[in-house]
Amino acid sequence: MNGSAEATSLPYYEEFTDKAFKTVTADRFVLKAAAPRVVENFLDVSHLAFVHNGSLGDSKYPLIPNYHVHWRDDHYVSDEIPVYADADGSGQYGTIYYTYEILAPTTARLKKVNRETGQIFSMLFTVVPHHERSSTVLALISRNYDLDQADEYYKDFQNVVIMEDAPVVEGQRPEELPLDLQAELHLPADRVAIAYRKYLSKLGVVFGSDTAIDSTKVAK
Ligand SMILES: [Fe+2]
Repeated sequence: MNGSAEATSLPYYEEFTDKAFKTVTADRFVLKAAAPRVVENFLDVSHLAFVHNGSLGDSKYPLIPNYHVHWRDDHYVSDEIPVYADADGSGQYGTIYYTYEILAPTTARLKKVNRETGQIFSMLFTVVPHHERSSTVLALISRNYDLDQADEYYKDFQNVVIMEDAPVVEGQRPEELPLDLQAELHLPADRVAIAYRKYLSKLGVVFGSDTAIDSTKVAK
């Protein structure tokens, strides 16, 4: 993080104004969970095959190839991660390249690219914390294809996805996000989540996180 952590500028979501894209505002969704837990779940590439088997992922293809996360300009961004997935609930599975960006303490972005078709499906995902155990999820969903499709189609799809996530994020214990990097995260596939915890630690965010941070374990 360039050795310093400062509040970032307002997240920029280029698809919103790009005329090649159609953007839909997802329905608001309230979760009984701490905001950082909700964001980390969004950033978890490995949960697709399990939590979203049949909607986004496929449990027969759970392996995530090695990838890295980089600090670029003012935020973390992952490599393009190839995932066997259905990007948009269309039922069409294939290799989709996922890129995650951490834009603010409770705001992230996901871009899914099908290199064969040129189709891009993007999301801006932000979580409004109400208190330590209650959050509202807001999302913008964009695609550069199927432009005549009714907004309800993509809203319904997002509702399916988030209802699959709800029992997972609401059932996590501890409810707070542990910022100790030795806790819970061990696999290379967790690198985006690890970057997120580092980011919160550097910013000094304690809301919704484990405040007992051992600074010696936070990567410099
Ligand atoms: Fe999910």
